Amino acid sequence: KETQKIRESLLDWYDDNQRDLPWRKKSSESEKERRAYEVWVSEIMLQQTRVQTVMEYYKRWMHKWPTIYDLAQASLEEVNEMWAGLGYYRRARFLLEGAKMVVAGKEGFPNQASSLMKVKGIGEYTAGAIASIAFNEAVPVVDGNVIRVLARLKAISANPKDRLTIKNFWKLAAQLVDPLRPGDFNQSLMELGATLCSVSKPSCSTCPVSSQCRAYSENRTIPVTDYPTK
Ligand code: ADE
Repeated sequence: KETQKIRESLLDWYDDNQRDLPWRKKSSESEKERRAYEVWVSEIMLQQTRVQTVMEYYKRWMHKWPTIYDLAQASLEEVNEMWAGLGYYRRARFLLEGAKMVVAGKEGFPNQASSLMKVKGIGEYTAGAIASIAFNEAVPVVDGNVIRVLARLKAISANPKDRLTIKNFWKLAAQLVDPLRPGDFNQSLMELGATLCSVSKPSCSTCPVSSQCRAYSENRTIPVTDYPTK
C-alpha cells in the first residue's frame, strides 16, 4: 500500500545516496551504546549548526572523549572550550550533565525514547533520533526538514509553527516510520529535506517519492508557502 511504497522508495534512495558523515559508521550489536553516544553528540551539535561546521567539531570531540565515560569525567571548562564557536553553550553543558547522569545511573544507557527523555537536555527530537538510529526503536523524528517533506508529501497546508500542527506531524511521522529500519527511515526523511526537498528549489525530477507526493501532483511544491504554509 501507499505507506509501504513510500518506505521502500525512501530507504532505497537513502541506501544509494546518503552522505558519508562521521557519525554514520555502522556498528555491531555490542556497540549500541557507543553508537547512542555518537548520535547524541552529533544530533545536539546539528541542532543549530550546519553539517559542514559540525563535522570538524564532532571529530575533535570524539577524539577527546571517545566514550560517554570519558565525557562524564570532563569539566565544564573543557567542554565549553571544545564547544567554542558553536554557540548556544547550554547545549554543551547539557551534554556534560546528561553524560554524568547516564554514567551515574545503574541501568546503563537508556535504550528507549521514553527513558531517554528523562536525561538532561534530551527532548523528543533527540530521544527519537538516538532510540531509532542506535537502538532500532520504531519512533519518529521530526525537525524542520521532516515537516517540509511531510507537508509536501501529504499536502498539509496548516501552519507548521502551530503547536497542534506540529503534534500532528509527529503523529503522521509515527505512522510512517519503517518498523524494521526506523533509524535509516528517519534519516532518509531528514536527508531528503536537507538535499532534494529544499525550501525554494526542490529537485522533484530526482526525488524518490515524487510519484507519491501530493504537492508534486498538484504542481504546488512552489512556493513553499503552499506546503507548508510558512
Ligand atoms: N540533520 C540532523 N540530524 C540528521 C541526520 N541524522 N541525518 C540527516 N540530517 C540530519
